[in-house]
Amino acid sequence: MKAIAVFPGKPDSVHLADLPEPSVHDIPGGRGVRVKVLRVGVDGTDKEINAAEYGAPPEGFNYLVIGHESLGRVEEVGANVTELRPGDYVVATVRRPGSSIYDRIGAYDMTTDSTYYERGINLRHGFLTEYYVEDPEYLVKVPQGLKEVGVLLEPASVVEKGIAQAYEIQRRLRVWRPRRAAVMGAGTIGLLATLALRLRGLDVTAFGRNPRPSLNSDLIEAIGARYISTLELPILEGARKYGPLDLIFEATGASPVVFESMQALGKNGVLVLSSVTGGDRKLEVPADKINLEFVLGNKVMVGTVNANREYFEMGVKDLAQAEAEYPGWLGRLLTHRVTGLDNYRDLFNKLTQANGAIKVFCEVAEP
Ligand code: BGC
Ligand code: ZN
Repeated sequence: MKAIAVFPGKPDSVHLADLPEPSVHDIPGGRGVRVKVLRVGVDGTDKEINAAEYGAPPEGFNYLVIGHESLGRVEEVGANVTELRPGDYVVATVRRPGSSIYDRIGAYDMTTDSTYYERGINLRHGFLTEYYVEDPEYLVKVPQGLKEVGVLLEPASVVEKGIAQAYEIQRRLRVWRPRRAAVMGAGTIGLLATLALRLRGLDVTAFGRNPRPSLNSDLIEAIGARYISTLELPILEGARKYGPLDLIFEATGASPVVFESMQALGKNGVLVLSSVTGGDRKLEVPADKINLEFVLGNKVMVGTVNANREYFEMGVKDLAQAEAEYPGWLGRLLTHRVTGLDNYRDLFNKLTQANGAIKVFCEVAEP
């Protein structure tokens, strides 16, 4: 069967690979689930993997099948699978457990191991292929009514984890009624974070680079949030005008914004960092001032990566609520569809060049 793969370490090596079809018997104990891949989204991580800045092949391979934002349909289940049935729509989680205590309790996103395993990213093949086989532990059922937007669940899970962690941390305050939030960045993660915070009833200001109007600013305004271009109003002024900010979700991919966000955060506030910044940017910051305000204001900053199944399950609920509250909104994020694995060149061209792209995805087979 076909798969889209790269040779990690070799820039621009994306190509079509040929793999044997997996079987339900590949997983022991009758626990295999064979899934037909329908749609796979691509993002900045795939771009970096193909640029040889990131990613590693599984042991015994010189290539890595990419793709970590999947949606598929169950075709066949092993004799001991009760959780899923043929015909069910599913999204697979990305991380696979290592050996730390966190991995052993299902919180593999919190691993303290130095090596981590991520399907389509690091040491495990991904989903840009025709079929895969998994243990039901790593498959999250998506209701039929969400099949058109289910490919957004993996990026949504990253947002869900960040927000859930923020709420968990804020239990330190005994009572936390967040009212105003900011989201830094208006890409897929920024948009989904804006959505998740609106669904929780917060007043949300999303900051982006580009001037409005754009599809991104329209989408933000369509769910009752505010879009601010930092060309018109810098972050600190925006925070003064629309704060105090109880929660900030940073998703720009640019580390300097983190230090501005630290200054924009209100008293007792929580700042969630989700940008994966592979560079080595240096910056001069008002260190005394930032530190003093953090201390005197009891502020928290937390990093968040990936997600375990719990956050995928929360994501399903938010996607469903979004479809009920803002019908059609999620579908508008799916801006660029490329049909068939053979068109991997087109997929990458759209990912790297398409103007106004929010989510580029490969339609491997019709949902
Ligand atoms: C993925 C995450 C992953 C992270 C770091 C992101 O693109 O969506 O699941 O943990 O990259 O590898
Ligand atoms: Zn991703």
